[in-house]
Amino acid sequence: MRIAVFSTKGYDQESLRQANEDGGHGHELRFFEPRLTPQTSSLGRGCEVVCAFVNDQLSASVIDDLADHGTRLVALRSAGFNHVDLEAAARRGLTVVRVPAYSPFAVAEHAAGLILALNRKLHRAYNRVREGNFALDGLMGFDLKGRRVGVVGTGRIGVAFVRIMAGFGCHILAMDPEPSDEAKKLGASFVDRDRLLAESDIIALHCPLTPETYHMINAKALAAMKPGVMIINTSRGALIDTRAAIDALKIGHIGSLGLDVYEEEADLFFEDISGQVIQDDVFARLLTFPNVLITGHQAFFTAEAVEAIATTTMENISAFARGEESGNEVPLPKAS
Ligand code: NAI
Repeated sequence: MRIAVFSTKGYDQESLRQANEDGGHGHELRFFEPRLTPQTSSLGRGCEVVCAFVNDQLSASVIDDLADHGTRLVALRSAGFNHVDLEAAARRGLTVVRVPAYSPFAVAEHAAGLILALNRKLHRAYNRVREGNFALDGLMGFDLKGRRVGVVGTGRIGVAFVRIMAGFGCHILAMDPEPSDEAKKLGASFVDRDRLLAESDIIALHCPLTPETYHMINAKALAAMKPGVMIINTSRGALIDTRAAIDALKIGHIGSLGLDVYEEEADLFFEDISGQVIQDDVFARLLTFPNVLITGHQAFFTAEAVEAIATTTMENISAFARGEESGNEVPLPKAS
């Protein structure tokens, strides 16, 4: 099949080429560096498959343009599909496939990394030592052992995260509309939202972005948290109302904030814009806090995960080409 691959970096091209070759798929890959947007969707014209990443825009107008010009399959290189207008895909008879699990460990380990770095202020210590400043003032952390960690969402990543934090001797409070038996076996106590917010020293978000979870961490939720709480978000930026988080950081209510995702990340992340002035004042304000650590959506970025994304993407596409289901189809609403 002819595949238009958007938002591609060198590592995407390499891994997808390799997976295409190793799996004997024989697809024709057309790589495009730009993000998929209404302005770039014409690049995908004539390709039966459009392969997209997390910040590509699969809005109704983009889907209409692609469908009008021969696209039949949207192959996401991500687990999340919050950026796809599923109603438009259903209306236009497109199939949407994703990579539901590539390496939950990659994301869970990154979340743990943010916790360790923020707690022991490794990001600040690194700079201090390089400047010959070996003073410890301001670097005091806390023992993770015995702390309460609130885990929002105990799916694949949430459970991998629970396993790691249980290893540190933390008490796990979890919430999920579908509580995981595995998390329970690892010692997690499933509690209601109010208890999780009120009692957790660290809150980690591992649920998808949906209309229900949009801004789930808003001013009210923040006010219900312990003073000094650490919040970690490696899921999707819009789970947190960033302006409310900034207000809570300014008064010291949030003790530290670790973000791998940001609600307006599409114009920033995955690009080197170090020579430009950041126009997003909310993001720029976040960067000024010493107790905020931001990474640019890199939690997934391990060799194992990148290889698995490419392999599953190619398998998803080949299954579609054979008229079979891969099992990774995103359920679409009934077209009206
Ligand atoms: P998953 O589908 O295995 O688990 C998600 C869990 O969240 C499910 O158990 C679900 O019942 C639960 N959930 C849904 N609504 C909830 C709510 N309102 N409150 C609490 N729990 C709720 O997904 P997985 O693989 O664990 O991924 C989680 C999220 O991580 C993805 O949706 C994606 O947004 C994000 N992600 C981020 C990456 C990164 O590089 N930063 C990479 C991969 C995923």
